[in-house]
Amino acid sequence: MSKQGKMNKVTTSVIRTMKKNGEKITMLTAYDYSTAAAMDEAGIDMILIGDSLAMVVLGYDSTLPVTMEDMLHHTKAVSRAVKRAMVIGDMPFMSYQASVEEAVRNAGRFMKEAGAHGVKLEGGREVAEVTRRISSAGIPVMAHLGLTPQSVHQLGGYKVQGKEAIAATRIKEDAKILQDNGAFSLVLEAVPASLAAEITDSLDIPTIGIGAGVNCDGQVLVVNDMLGLFEKFTPKFVKKYANLNVDMKKAIEQYLSEVREGSFPGPEHSF
Ligand code: KIV
Repeated sequence: MSKQGKMNKVTTSVIRTMKKNGEKITMLTAYDYSTAAAMDEAGIDMILIGDSLAMVVLGYDSTLPVTMEDMLHHTKAVSRAVKRAMVIGDMPFMSYQASVEEAVRNAGRFMKEAGAHGVKLEGGREVAEVTRRISSAGIPVMAHLGLTPQSVHQLGGYKVQGKEAIAATRIKEDAKILQDNGAFSLVLEAVPASLAAEITDSLDIPTIGIGAGVNCDGQVLVVNDMLGLFEKFTPKFVKKYANLNVDMKKAIEQYLSEVREGSFPGPEHSF
């Protein structure tokens, strides 16, 4: 928990101060009211309604099909639960690439309609102008470099990025460009820990790592991965803090057999 105190709302300036003070920033994804409430009560700093929604909740094979309407629907549910954490809406594929005007309008929808406190978008120097324009509209922008899942077809799969010197240099340059264009923080996904550490040291804005080693200013995981709810595949960087899929199946099986044998509902559940 941040030293800023449990009930103080987390804002961009709190996040910046945490980096300055060397306090680690905590972030998880959430897509629904109950999960977001549990995270907020536990004292999490930031909650991301990730476009991972597409894969871990909606069952698509990639993040590409998820729509603005899907993202807004789930961001609204999370916002209703959260009292303290900073809520970040993830801009879905093709909501910010076609034009700067459309990007600003869509970012605005996350704030106006869904109660988000900021947005995240993927990409490097190619989204510098979009980052600058959304930020100058008063909307905090979280940047995202390294493995950017919306570009999976261009990247040729979900692979570690920045292993070669040229690629590493480009990511470092992009990080600085995005900071200079107003990003308030930066997600680094699936990059070597040494590269993430170097970028973290070189920036004033905090880095949030996922598969980027321990030296980032904060960490994020997809909640369905870390709770063991999503079993289709588990990236190497995920630590499972629970096995809820196993517990869920056990509970469902017990319910089925109690209904079938007539032991549920008991008198205590009846009127
Ligand atoms: O969509 C998502 O969940 C993300 C996180 C992995 C950072 O972008």
